[in-house]
Amino acid sequence: MAKFDNLLLEKKDGVAVITLNRPSKKNAMSPALHRDMVAALELLRDDKNARVVVITGAGGVFCAGMDLKEFFLELKDKPSEYEAVWKMATEWRGRTLRYYPKPVIAMVNGFCFGGAFSIVEGCDLAFAAEEATFGLSEINFKLFPGGCVSKSLANLLRPRDALYYGMSGETFDGVEAARIGFINKAFPKDKLVEQTMAVARNLASKDPNAMRATKEGYRYSLEMTWDAAMNYAMAKELELVQRQNDAFRKEGIQDFLKGKYKPGLEAHPG
Ligand code: COA
Repeated sequence: MAKFDNLLLEKKDGVAVITLNRPSKKNAMSPALHRDMVAALELLRDDKNARVVVITGAGGVFCAGMDLKEFFLELKDKPSEYEAVWKMATEWRGRTLRYYPKPVIAMVNGFCFGGAFSIVEGCDLAFAAEEATFGLSEINFKLFPGGCVSKSLANLLRPRDALYYGMSGETFDGVEAARIGFINKAFPKDKLVEQTMAVARNLASKDPNAMRATKEGYRYSLEMTWDAAMNYAMAKELELVQRQNDAFRKEGIQDFLKGKYKPGLEAHPG
């Protein structure tokens, strides 16, 4: 497996786990960590052994957001470099994860502040420890949820929750994150990995082309008119048939009609 200075990468049972690995800085996202993340996601994009990607953090922490020193201070007088890092940082969280051709799951194991909200929002699914601490801390240091964070809040949260937590800077735990719909579900800390990996393995066991179409069908339709979405769905269906050699008809539907399984209750055995 490739090695990165700021990430750990492991693969097992069709699931790749990317661990943000700057525990001495609470996994704050330095420019180098962003570069590593871009490279790791590109590496896994076409890796057939990575059907699902899970993102988590080392040292009992998810991510303390942007590296305030290396990004905001050290690049202050280097506008071109600042803009390049800004774009790279927003691109992988705001677009790469969202349109990635396989499911991406955030596993929030501890502190999750500021810019880390956009990792969670960019992922398709998110689980957290009940004890995790979330906070839009920008207001506390006289900034606002910049980069892609305000858009992440607008994408996922109800206005009352986004503005309350954005304006107050108050922290909340995993249970509250689930209640407001920022994550799918919170688990006790000692169950988080087991439960998240069970979901990841389940997704990894499905037809990867149907999985990709499920994600892309949803993601791209969000931006479309009804007419464009219908046209896209028809084209997407034909694309899926081509990618999976019509497996949904030949296996999925035929085996149901032969009484081999009930797709309403279980996945195709093949
Ligand atoms: N950027 C840069 N460095 C950070 C950081 C960040 N976002 N978050 C933590 N660190 C660094 C600290 O400066 C410290 O470095 P040092 O050991 O060289 O002094 C180290 O990580 C450990 O942090 P510390 O504050 O000592 O740990 P803690 O457990 O007491 O508190 C936090 C952890 C996350 C609550 C606290 O570090 C914090 O408030 N960080 C800022 C979070 C934030 O506002 N993020 C939004 C950014 S968009």
